[in-house]
Amino acid sequence: MKELFGKMKNGDDIYKYSIENGEYSLNVLTLGATIQSLKVPNSKGEIVDVVLGYKTAEEYLNCSTYYGMCVGRVANRIKGAKFTLNNVEYKIENNEGENSLHSGYSSFCFKNWKSQELLINDNPALKFSVKSYDGEGGFPGNVEVTCTYILTKDGQVVINYEGITDKDTIMNLTNHSYFNLGGDYQKTILDHKLQLDSDKYVEVDETAIPTGNILSTKKTAFDFNVFHTLGERINQIPGGYDHTVCFSRYTGQLSKVGDFRCDRSKINMEILTTMPSLQLYSGNFISQNDINKDGSKGIKNGGVCFETQFLPDSPNHDNFQSIELKSDEKYQHTTIYKFSTY
Ligand code: GLA
Repeated sequence: MKELFGKMKNGDDIYKYSIENGEYSLNVLTLGATIQSLKVPNSKGEIVDVVLGYKTAEEYLNCSTYYGMCVGRVANRIKGAKFTLNNVEYKIENNEGENSLHSGYSSFCFKNWKSQELLINDNPALKFSVKSYDGEGGFPGNVEVTCTYILTKDGQVVINYEGITDKDTIMNLTNHSYFNLGGDYQKTILDHKLQLDSDKYVEVDETAIPTGNILSTKKTAFDFNVFHTLGERINQIPGGYDHTVCFSRYTGQLSKVGDFRCDRSKINMEILTTMPSLQLYSGNFISQNDINKDGSKGIKNGGVCFETQFLPDSPNHDNFQSIELKSDEKYQHTTIYKFSTY
């Protein structure tokens, strides 16, 4: 099902698609292939919307929260908004001081994607596709990207990313959903519990740019190998969690990397991915100007992001895994958020 959601600045229509499967339902916008709502049952059987979202297209078009959006070509930060590939230096958009965050204003998240409703193995699915031309935002290569959401009866939101380019380029896509499993947007996620199979994290400087060091999580507030609440040690980290943590058992294959849960709703969310790391971002910059879709005001730590991705600023660090996408390769990644109750 689709309905008109709003307009792009050029007047194009933005649609909101809705799919459901059993007790689960998902709304995705053509703008940014954005997850606008995700409803799952709590332990009492009540339906809870577990992601933050806005009510209007204008808010999405002007936001700096990236609520639920598909971010690309390259998620997170690139120092000095430049990188070198095949001996050519490329200058991309700087939108955070000198640095680039989430690829600037030409990010895929601010584009109106083409859409298609599908059935994949009997599950409702939404396939979004977008093109970006050679040189757009400063990146080389004409690229075509698809982002497909599949909703299964057993509570999985499967996100499949695919991309091709006609010239060597770089690519690192993510989904920027903010989860709040309590469903009460006036309560923070600091009482939610997190477990992550991660033994390392990426050290960053005061501008959130990687120093190049990848450090052990042992005895730090980044060690979530056993469950901890997000609030327990957050004060040990100036500004809150906004760091990349690396998975201990990364193989490139789809595997479970952690669980996130809320004792109030007793909703558990498993995280599975093919990617090597995620940006753990505790919604530190959400402000009261971010009006929630239920009309309430946004609060700091009102949601948390698990942005599965490759390491930030990878092209500028030889010791980070490359995010280069060659012209004869296909970018292909999957992340799954799986909901259940306990
Ligand atoms: C990413 C960044 C954060 C913040 C959010 C958007 O997660 O790491 O610092 O910019 O996006 O608000």
